[in-house]
Order: sequence, then C-alpha cells, then structure tokens
Amino acid sequence: MDHFLYRNGELHAEDVAIREIAAEVGTPFYVYSAATLERHFRVFDEALSPNPHLVCFAVKSNSNVAVLRVLAKLGAGMDVVSGGEYRRALAAGVPGEKIVFSGVGKTREEMAFVLEHGVRQFNVESEPELLVLSEVAASMGKVAPITLRVNPDVDAKTHEKISTGKSENKFGIPIAKAREIYKMAAGLPGIDVVGVDMHIGSQLTDLAPFEEAYTKMRALALALREDGHNIRRLDLGGGLGIPYTRSNEAPPLPAEYGAMVKRVLGDLGCELEIEPGRLISGNAGLLVSSVIYVKEGEGRDFLILDAAMNDLVRPSMYGAHHDIIPVIEAEAGTEPQPFDVVGPVCETGDTFAKARALPALQPEDLVAFRSAGAYGAVMASEYNTRPLIPEVMVSGDQFAVIRARPTFDEILARDTIPQWL
Ligand code: LLP
Repeated sequence: MDHFLYRNGELHAEDVAIREIAAEVGTPFYVYSAATLERHFRVFDEALSPNPHLVCFAVKSNSNVAVLRVLAKLGAGMDVVSGGEYRRALAAGVPGEKIVFSGVGKTREEMAFVLEHGVRQFNVESEPELLVLSEVAASMGKVAPITLRVNPDVDAKTHEKISTGKSENKFGIPIAKAREIYKMAAGLPGIDVVGVDMHIGSQLTDLAPFEEAYTKMRALALALREDGHNIRRLDLGGGLGIPYTRSNEAPPLPAEYGAMVKRVLGDLGCELEIEPGRLISGNAGLLVSSVIYVKEGEGRDFLILDAAMNDLVRPSMYGAHHDIIPVIEAEAGTEPQPFDVVGPVCETGDTFAKARALPALQPEDLVAFRSAGAYGAVMASEYNTRPLIPEVMVSGDQFAVIRARPTFDEILARDTIPQWL
C-alpha cells in the first residue's frame, strides 16, 4: 500500500497534488511519501515481533539523508555497503551501534573509519577480508563484531543480475567451508564472532528460496554453537519483492515472511536482523516527468519524456517494468493507445516501455513512474550532462526539496582544465 492516489482526478502524494510540486520544482523529479516509508518499516518491525530484532534499512536502495531520517526516527537500523553510505546513516542520526557494514570489498580505510565511529557488526564476505579486519581492529586496539556472510547455494529465482546466493556468485563464503573459517575467525585478535549472515538476492516473489536458505542457516548456527561459538545474532539479508504492476500476482507479505522466519529460526534465542531495501522504499517513491513531444513513428507512436535512462536506469538495465500513469486522470471512456515511452538520451536503450497503453497525452502533460523509490535516484548518473534530478519529500500536506537540482555552473565547476592545456 502507498499514499499516491487520485483525488478529484489528480494524482496526489499524500495530501499534496503532484502538479503543485511540478510547478514549483520543475520536472523531472523524484517524490517520496514519508507516511509510506513509515508504514513499510512498521509492517516489517511488527512481522518479526515479539522476537528480539532490528530492521536495518538497506541504504543502497535509497540513500537520501531525509529518507534515512524518517526511518531513523522510528528506531531503524541501517545496512550500508560503503564508507559513503555509513556517513549518510550517521548524518541521518543513526548511531553506529545500529549500523551493519556489508559488502564484498571493504577497504582498510572504510574499516578503520567505521570502527572509530561505532558499528553494530561487519558482515564479512571472505577469508582475506577477515584477516585484514583483524589486523585493522587489533592495530586500533578495537574489537570488531562480525558475522560471516555464508553463501547457501540457493537459487533465488529472480533476475540473474540481482541473484546473489548461488555458489557461482561473488558473494559470501561457501557454506561447506563455513565451520572452518569460523574456527579461524575465533582465533584472530580484534575479532568477536556474533552470528551468521545470508542475503540470497533481491526482488524475490516466493518464500521458498528464503526458507531453504534459513533452514541451512539454522543447521549451521547449531553446528557453530557445538563448535563453541557464541552465535547470538542472525542477519537474514533483504530481498523480499514488491508488486511492480497492479495486475500481477502480489509477492508474499512481510507478515507471511516474518511468520516463516519465526517458524524456522525463532526458537534459537538469537536476535534477528533483516536488511530490507526495496520493500521499504520502492513503493514509497514516484518519478514524475513531462511529455516533451508526441512523435508519430512507423507503426508506433513515441512519447518522448524529459526523464531518461540516466534518471531511472532499471528498465534499460534489467528490462524492469514500472507502471506509468498520467498525473491528470484520463476521462472515463477514453480509449488508451499504445506508446513507446522513451527519454531524450542518445541510445536506443533509453526506452522505458514498449507499446504501453496510455491515454492520449500532449506535450507538457505530466506522467508518473510508480515504484521508483528504490534503486531510482541512487542509480542515477549525469550521462549526456543531464543534471541529477531533485528529490522531494511529502508528509501530509507539506513538501520539501530534499536534494536540489544542481545548476549547470555547479556541474561545470567540478571539471578543471590543467594549466598546460
Ligand atoms: N542486503 C544486502 C547484502 C544486499 O546486497 C541487498 C541488495 C539488500 C540487503 C537489499 O535488498 P532488497 O531488500 O532491496 O531487495 N539495483 C537492483 C537491486 C540490487 C540489489 C542489491 N542488493 C534493482 O534495481 O533491482
């Protein structure tokens, strides 16, 4: 459920008309609903209750500091994958003790910075990383709490580019080697083993792969306890999918996911941690764009928008579907027509949708891409020297720009011409 609904024939974000934001901010822009973010966080939080748990928002899905602040105020933890994301979480007011540091390529500098400012745990992904972390922590006189990210070799049955739990993926340590590496970890200076971590992929629409992975996690946690490790925390990763179309069958609800988790792992006396990104931020955001031209092609008509692949890369990168809806609701009885919806970037891949049924639209009409709050703004680039687009937050009847559109002067000022040219 989200808070983007038509009222009096006009799309609103909570109580604010999208048209009003567009008039003030200009298009294209991203808009997020604070109430939707809050709702999605709470749904997850309740799904794991009454077991001790922490919902750590996957910052990679939407890292705007204002978005993080909305969640921080509810007590959320954060899952970060770089020193940059860690700084964003701190800036949003999240204490280091609630920040989990994941990722396959943590550098010494990142480790030292995070150890200095506080961390809940490092999710360690390899033996070499473990050795470096031990060295860095010991040299600082610190102890790094860690889990090992274990690759359970489970097929998440999702898009191959976002599947992470198969043995051929670069993530985690093979489950068959886990006990051996835990043993090594326990003997290293500056390392405190606190638990086990898994993340098998993103946009999962079925609970079965999760259950298969968590069943393996259970067996491993018990075996590790037998080996003498004090396993007290289980990090279950993120990955629960969202509905991208309103017609498609809906993925499992967080409550169903939570019930399964508690059934499989709930009796181990461990604190449960989850790292949802998309489920919290995905349907809490829209990308709003204007029509520049309607172009008649051979056998197809093109809707040329002012948003492009550099603003929302998911359709060109993963062939992802985003619902596109008019901001002013079509009048009843108007026949939709098929359009190829494209952006102005000079690549054929700059196509958002092919033969998409839309009402007749004119230049300057506004459209909104749904489900754009996750992996939207964070994956944007300035390709074709198109400035990164603004982000706006709505709460009730108020809205604010939470990242401004840079000016061309600011963009050009980042480049320097060496004196010798
Ligand atoms: N934890 C870890 C270790 C992850 O790698 C990820 C996502 C998450 C949590 C959050 O997963 P979520 O709950 O959002 O599914 N750019 C792609 C998605 C990449 C996901 C990468 N890892 C997309 O646009 O679909």
